[in-house]
Amino acid sequence: MNPVKPAATATTADAVRKGRETLTVIDNRTGKQYELPITHDTIRALDLRKIKVQENEFGMMSYDPAFNNTALCQSRVTFIDGDSGILRYRGYPIEELAEKSTYLETAYLILHGELPTRPQLEEWSFHITHHTFIHESIKKFLDGFHYDAHPMGMMISTIAALSTFYPDARDIFNEESRSKQTWRLIGKMPTLAAFAYRHSLGMPYAYPDNELSYTGNFLNMLFKTTELKYRPNPTLEHALDVLFILHADHEQNCSANAMRCVGSSHVDPYSATAAATAALYGPLHGGANEEVLRMLMQIGSTQRVPEYIQRVKAGEHKLMGFGHRIYKNYDPRARIIKRIADEVFEVMGRNPLIDIALECERVALQDEYFVSRRLYPNVDFYTGLIYQSMGFPMTMFPVLFAIPRTSGWIAQWEEMLLDAEQKIARPRQVYLGHDQRSYVPIENRS
Ligand code: ACO
Repeated sequence: MNPVKPAATATTADAVRKGRETLTVIDNRTGKQYELPITHDTIRALDLRKIKVQENEFGMMSYDPAFNNTALCQSRVTFIDGDSGILRYRGYPIEELAEKSTYLETAYLILHGELPTRPQLEEWSFHITHHTFIHESIKKFLDGFHYDAHPMGMMISTIAALSTFYPDARDIFNEESRSKQTWRLIGKMPTLAAFAYRHSLGMPYAYPDNELSYTGNFLNMLFKTTELKYRPNPTLEHALDVLFILHADHEQNCSANAMRCVGSSHVDPYSATAAATAALYGPLHGGANEEVLRMLMQIGSTQRVPEYIQRVKAGEHKLMGFGHRIYKNYDPRARIIKRIADEVFEVMGRNPLIDIALECERVALQDEYFVSRRLYPNVDFYTGLIYQSMGFPMTMFPVLFAIPRTSGWIAQWEEMLLDAEQKIARPRQVYLGHDQRSYVPIENRS
């Protein structure tokens, strides 16, 4: 064994690595060679533009529908390793936060980058709690909706309407103003959600109770009836708090991207949050938990699961709550949610649909179709069952996602605003339509 050789090899490899963090591209159309710098295992798409056949050409672009392999920002908020099933906010594993933190503390962490000290947490909670009331005119606004309006539609509209009540929110480069809008948004989201819910029931609105926790107050505004003081069930209050922690951020997903994209035009944060909420409404994103429940009810019994899975494999429908753009392993949030489900069922009784869900998971995870495509349960697979057991109608499920995600959206928005490299989001296209042609008078058209 020669001890020198491996050391020499390592030194050479190090030198090559340190000296040339570049990518060499040869354009076979011209035989020209280009050296593109690599930073954090990434090349800059703009560097491709120097690759051209003719000097006067636009230059090469990368084509990436649905951003499958394009980083649109550098971020320090949330880390996901989809292959290993890892999710961390500001470096802290989701499992630890779910066990030891609270939603408001986690929201502070996500927005400020560090866990708060006790006085910081007290001040933060005070500000959020004292921004839970909404302008009485918003109530009139809600009254205008039909009784069966989807609460997500009501949320999107009322969040957007908040921008008309707080014109100071347009001062987006003023840190003090941004803090105020952050307290308002995080504080008012549960109130808007609860009011939308009560409107659909025709029940009088229940006002915020500042003595309760964030989720305790939300339950109060949803479910308070004739009692003088609503006392939330501690298990349900805690379960909802953990679910809120799990949903607080998820890096560059569809709605975070909508928040950043719309925010990049420098519109106020209420308008951008309304856009993010609209993105979340879709059945491929935050609307999936509602679809999961519909699917489980349609399957109806554990005996019918194999037949349903066959129909999924035949392409008739998707197995809702399965698959993820990033996770090619068990979604770490789904694991925690399964535990929370048991806690909630102990208080509220077992949701009979859980057996169908567990059977779907068992059958799918043994099936070559799902195994080869690395399709595992995602966060939405079990949340709907918990929400239903807690007494929420299906239409409220995406709303329960939007409330906690607001902290993540604001963190993504603020990071975008303060990033000197960011500009108004404006993708390119590969135009494949007609070349120039002359207008044809209508009488000459066939
Ligand atoms: N059921 C059946 N097949 C699926 C599913 C599913 N749920 N998800 C993906 N596949 C299949 C696709 O048909 C495709 O098969 P093919 O290679 O034979 O064409 C393959 O798996 C890869 O899927 P893509 O669509 O390329 O994956 P993509 O990353 O674009 O989509 C998505 C991810 C949208 C989440 C998808 O898995 C899906 O629609 N799942 C169901 C909806 C859902 O649960 N959404 C919630 C996501 S989590 C969240 O937003 C909070």
